[in-house]
Amino acid sequence: MSEGILLPPLARGTLLPAPARVARLDAALPQIRAALEGERDEIAIQATLACLLWETLAQTNWCGFYRRTGDAVLTVGPYQGTMGCLRIDFARGVCGACARTKSVQLVPDVTKFEGHIACDDRTRSELVVPVVVRGELRAVLDLDSPHLDAFSREEADRLVALVSEVLS
Ligand code: SME
Repeated sequence: MSEGILLPPLARGTLLPAPARVARLDAALPQIRAALEGERDEIAIQATLACLLWETLAQTNWCGFYRRTGDAVLTVGPYQGTMGCLRIDFARGVCGACARTKSVQLVPDVTKFEGHIACDDRTRSELVVPVVVRGELRAVLDLDSPHLDAFSREEADRLVALVSEVLS
């Protein structure tokens, strides 16, 4: 039986300093890649990533996927955390901006992001990573935190590489 991921336990919501967060993510990444090795089912991969990134990124209150289900609409997919919006139009929010532009959205303070959607009003910062397959936006990985500035460029870069490796 799988034991999940082997990392020092951290209470939900703990915000480590950025270098320690990157070190924790670096310890988790080989385990995440190993857990997904050979898997091709998209939902199985998204669900497992949501679970293992939730364990790794203790600063999050929401961790998971919105899937592209229409020309310009995202529908909630596998996630961990408090209840998320079910659908997000490409025109709206940080996830919509990521889907529209196919680019990483690193938002250290959501109150400064015009049109941010507050699914959970405790959310203070957010990182959204596009999942692009053969040039098409397929989904976004959305990470929210109740702390300001809870995500670094280094974490974003690693997550971009991970999703492009396991979901394309
Ligand atoms: N905050 C996001 C919406 C998704 S949920 O918070 C889970 C946004 O502005 O896109």
